[in-house]
Amino acid sequence: MLLCQILVNACDMRANWGRREEVQPHTKRPDAGARLRILTGMAIYDTLGASYGRTRQPDPRIAAQLHAALADAADVVNVGAGTGSYEPPRTVLAVEPSHVMLAQRPPRSAPAVRAVAERLPLCDNAADAVMALLTIHHWTDLAAGIAELRRVARRRVVVLTWDQRIFRERFWLVRDYLPRAAAFDDTRAVPIDRLAALLGGARQETVPVPHDCTDGFGAAYWRRPRAYLDPQVRAGISMLAQTGEDALAPGLAALADDLATGRWHERHAELLALDAIDVGYRLLVADI
Ligand SMILES: C[S@@+](CC[C@H](N)C(=O)[O-])C[C@H]1O[C@@H](n2cnc3c(N)ncnc32)[C@H](O)[C@@H]1O
Repeated sequence: MLLCQILVNACDMRANWGRREEVQPHTKRPDAGARLRILTGMAIYDTLGASYGRTRQPDPRIAAQLHAALADAADVVNVGAGTGSYEPPRTVLAVEPSHVMLAQRPPRSAPAVRAVAERLPLCDNAADAVMALLTIHHWTDLAAGIAELRRVARRRVVVLTWDQRIFRERFWLVRDYLPRAAAFDDTRAVPIDRLAALLGGARQETVPVPHDCTDGFGAAYWRRPRAYLDPQVRAGISMLAQTGEDALAPGLAALADDLATGRWHERHAELLALDAIDVGYRLLVADI
């Protein structure tokens, strides 16, 4: 019997793992709050995620760092899994609330269920490791979600997020051009100390962003500034998509102007010599 079937049987739930279906978390009838959280998660990425696969391909260097953090895990659950980026081969289950994201998972990827982090449809100690990558800032109840990761993990929880204080100070796009995007991220970024405390203690690893990063998240194009003028690139970055085009327009016009006149390259000449930078992305690794 597949491990994922064992997990579900142990929780007394029914799901068809050949398809991607919503399952009932824990209780047979989820309460109104849980239903609302499912709907909220859907609403965000059913809108934001339509072109995710086009600009958000896993970066091999970030994948290597993440997989090293999961190295000794026999089985892994991916929460907020999206299209399945960075899932190691021994991933037994992906948890994701958005239909649009689930529909973009490759055909032979791990089985997936539509559910939210705050109420995982899994029994206690279900897998060696649980990972949650670039997702916690979307959760409606961070403490509940992290408690769920810890409940489900036997040995390790791995979270990829960013330190907003470092990000807004070091990343030229939000610092010099898009302060309203920085202000939006202020409202949702999770302070690293708070996250570490919720995890019951965690070691932190810096995640450098390569200059040619293939995963088009917020700072992926730090050495390719023209990319931020592309609406498709912006659509794949929730910080920009959720801040809204009207709020971004003046800063993007200033960036276009600075690129046309060569001012951006004069100001950032030192960046062009770097292969990777630390703009605040952090991997938190918590042993249970
Ligand atoms: C930026 S994407 C990251 C996806 C994937 N982890 C990756 O690294 O490519 C954020 C994901 O979090 C999901 N999400 C939003 N709210 C969630 C929640 N409450 N619980 C679990 N996932 C959630 C979104 O649907 C989306 O797929």
